[in-house]
Amino acid sequence: MTYTVQGRHLVLGVCGGIAAYKSVELLRLLMKENASVRVVMTANAAHFVGPMTFEALSRKTVCRTLFETSDEAAVQHIHWAQEAEAVVIAPATANMIGKLAGGIADDALSTFMLAVACPVLVCPAMNTHMYESKAVQRNLQRLKEYGYAVLEPGAGELACGTTGPGRLPEPAIIFDALLDLLAPKDFSGRRVLITAGPTREAIDPVRFITNPSSGKMGYAIARAALMRGAQVTLVSGPSALTPPLNARVLQVTSASEMAAAVLAEMDRHDIVIKTAAVADFRPASVSDLKIKKEQAGLSIQLERTQDILKAVGERKQNQILVGFAAETHDMDAFATEKLKAKNLDMIVGNIVGGADAGFNADTNRAIVYFKNGTREQVDLMAKTDLAHLLLDRIAVMIPA
Ligand code: PMT
Repeated sequence: MTYTVQGRHLVLGVCGGIAAYKSVELLRLLMKENASVRVVMTANAAHFVGPMTFEALSRKTVCRTLFETSDEAAVQHIHWAQEAEAVVIAPATANMIGKLAGGIADDALSTFMLAVACPVLVCPAMNTHMYESKAVQRNLQRLKEYGYAVLEPGAGELACGTTGPGRLPEPAIIFDALLDLLAPKDFSGRRVLITAGPTREAIDPVRFITNPSSGKMGYAIARAALMRGAQVTLVSGPSALTPPLNARVLQVTSASEMAAAVLAEMDRHDIVIKTAAVADFRPASVSDLKIKKEQAGLSIQLERTQDILKAVGERKQNQILVGFAAETHDMDAFATEKLKAKNLDMIVGNIVGGADAGFNADTNRAIVYFKNGTREQVDLMAKTDLAHLLLDRIAVMIPA
């Protein structure tokens, strides 16, 4: 199964709107991931962004009219439609949405769309009053009935001066929605609880104990699970990352807040994945006032935090429980000991300490240990890819 756009045949439809400049950035993101993208643009779109820009980025002829003279683009709508694995229309204007809803084919893009049988993502962008009009809402409803995915526009101040919904979402969000469209939905109907990031244990009002977890690994798993159709609850410690769209996010700070959130939520979930780097110790007492530096020779008494994973393991019924083990050495011994002691179905042994794996890196390497005593060595890969690999391993444990 593939969860990237790499090598996938995509078509980007661009309509005439001020947001057309964002479709250039979307195309750039798709090309960076080695997708094969053809662009079909309306005549009005060319008023906002020239076809040369799309041609240079996609390295393919852009189709603008039904009567292109270049061999590659001439009356190619049937061939391109058959080849496409997904189509994204961004921005989609009220006019194009109306044509798609009504089956009108009077230009290259609308004609091409009638021949398309693959998944389609429509990204409306227009003035708020136009977007909220009965006609546009009825047409969007009809597109959903046809099976098109419609990405809700963002809200805010628009180029026309009105404030409200109608803004084209950022290219990274459209990219994610496109990945969602392409991914198999093998976690559909499953509720997944994921913890991510570090915890902070206060010393006084301005100081705390923490660790370098960025949240990247846990957020990647959350995003991958959403993409594959799961309902996701993400319990996150402090992280600078943007939470995935459509995840239910519970922000926590300390280990005790994370414990309360996880233990309150676990019974509602089928799968629990504990990626968070939870502090094992916290100051035994927290000073209400800032500790002054003149106080020489300060020592802090520490006490254990609750082992959340152990508590979940003791209470679990039919849930699949996955832990992580961040270790610098003796991985086999430490990870398998945690697997047994915490009643886990799988533990991801994460070799930390290097620049390319573990804390804050974009890549990771791991050894995965299973309840049946087997292990799997996973070489260095992007955390986004490791997330899918781990979900592949979990998917086969899900009872039918
Ligand atoms: O966030 P990133 O920058 O992407 O980094 C990812 C990561 C390195 C944090 C992640 O891949 C990882 O290894 N997470 C586990 C970190 C950890 O706390 O390991 P541990 O061996 O100390 O804990 C074992 C397990 O018990 C973990 O699942 C942890 O969530 C859990 N735990 C630990 C302590 C505690 N008090 N309660 C817990 O539930």
